[in-house]
Amino acid sequence: SRPENHVIILFGATGDLARRKLLPGLFHLAAAGLMPDRYRIVGTARSPITDAQFRDLAHEAITTFGTTEPTGETWQAFRRTLSFVGAGPTGPSLVAAIDHAKRAIGGSPGRLFHLAVPPAAFESTVSLLGAAGLAPGSRVIIEKPFGTDLRSARALNKTVNASFDESQVFRIDHFLGKESVDNILAFRFANGLFEPAWNRRHISYVQIDVPETLSIEGRADFYDHTGAYRDMIVTHLFQVLGFVAMEPPTTLGADHLRARMARVFDALRPVDVAHVVRGQYAGYRDEPGVASDSQTETMAAVRVEIDNRRWAGVPFFLRSGKRLGASRQTVTLGFHQPPLHMFPIDGTGRWNEVVIDFADPGSITVDFLAKVPGAEMRLAAASMTFRYADSFRAGNGLEGYERLILDAMLGDQSLFTHAGAVERLWEISEPLLENPPPVQPYAPASWGPQPSVDELIEPYRWRLRG
Ligand code: BG6
Repeated sequence: SRPENHVIILFGATGDLARRKLLPGLFHLAAAGLMPDRYRIVGTARSPITDAQFRDLAHEAITTFGTTEPTGETWQAFRRTLSFVGAGPTGPSLVAAIDHAKRAIGGSPGRLFHLAVPPAAFESTVSLLGAAGLAPGSRVIIEKPFGTDLRSARALNKTVNASFDESQVFRIDHFLGKESVDNILAFRFANGLFEPAWNRRHISYVQIDVPETLSIEGRADFYDHTGAYRDMIVTHLFQVLGFVAMEPPTTLGADHLRARMARVFDALRPVDVAHVVRGQYAGYRDEPGVASDSQTETMAAVRVEIDNRRWAGVPFFLRSGKRLGASRQTVTLGFHQPPLHMFPIDGTGRWNEVVIDFADPGSITVDFLAKVPGAEMRLAAASMTFRYADSFRAGNGLEGYERLILDAMLGDQSLFTHAGAVERLWEISEPLLENPPPVQPYAPASWGPQPSVDELIEPYRWRLRG
């Protein structure tokens, strides 16, 4: 369905996120016919630019980072919806700009604020909206990181909730907007082959592994104060864990889904520092803007456990980091070995694993043992793979951000994080944040500090390794 008419107000409209994801995403939604019938996009940022400059910036951003070429009538129509208002004291006020956009649309359009601003500017921006009387009837999309620990997350939630009711708040995690992460629910709950096996009786371990080959790409200001644990594990990987581990929700409505997620997070044991590896790639301290004695981890690997009937005793291994051996986004489920005494097995290949690759375009692989053709009964690893393109003509549709901005316009909070869930994840992280083990160096393009990263997962092995 298509959202009601909207004024979208983009804070941080000239920033990195707006250029890489938000402007290209909004344009792709427009090209796909998914934007409201009538809408306006009001950009705002500290440094004032003109409407024409903002439109040019959007054109350049969409050309560089988008999937749809900004040309023809679609682009012209989109271009006309864009305007810019400086956040400084001299520019025309935001309220006037929003009013102007509203009159251009007619009627009473919805109002969606997207706060793509650095963490330090968060609370002041939210308070500004409250003070300007812009909160009632609006929705607000908030970008991670949602705080840096339990205390700051609580303070942030308090500030946000002072102006906005929780039903107006959309904390965005673009991983939950990924097609193949959503598909985890379908795969698990819609298939009689997998649904009954999705528990401790059949599964011996789970890996959620998101290595990146990228370095910090000039983001030292942000990254050196954040690190891999806060940037990826708390923010994204635990959300994926929620999808992998939740009990079946009664419906996919936001209340039911978010309640199930919350139950998983409640059952997570606090992180035990004995089961954490923090790594830093060699050369990180020479990156521009990074402290020469930085203790920030550029890779984090943790083992966590979920204390409930479904998962007790099943370790979940989470790993993510920069400058690792490959760029992948995977969930691997390792199944128990049946007794194999009667079979000779060739090689030490892997079997008994289901691997969900959730980086677009995504795939699912089932590894199993099969008889090697021939007169003898010998087995070897074989695999079956689902790829979207083999089964669906439409391709992967929307990118994470696009899907979620659309959901926010539709008022659907299912794939957005609740304040309580955010706080719980910081709470279980406290032992680590208060007492982080020392960072260990690792070679770029490796899989993290050795031997610690492999020892963490023993007696199992990382699916992704050299
Ligand atoms: C962001 C992190 O949230 O997610 C980045 O800040 C990371 O450090 C990125 O590279 C990965 O997301 P994706 O799905 O766009 O590759």
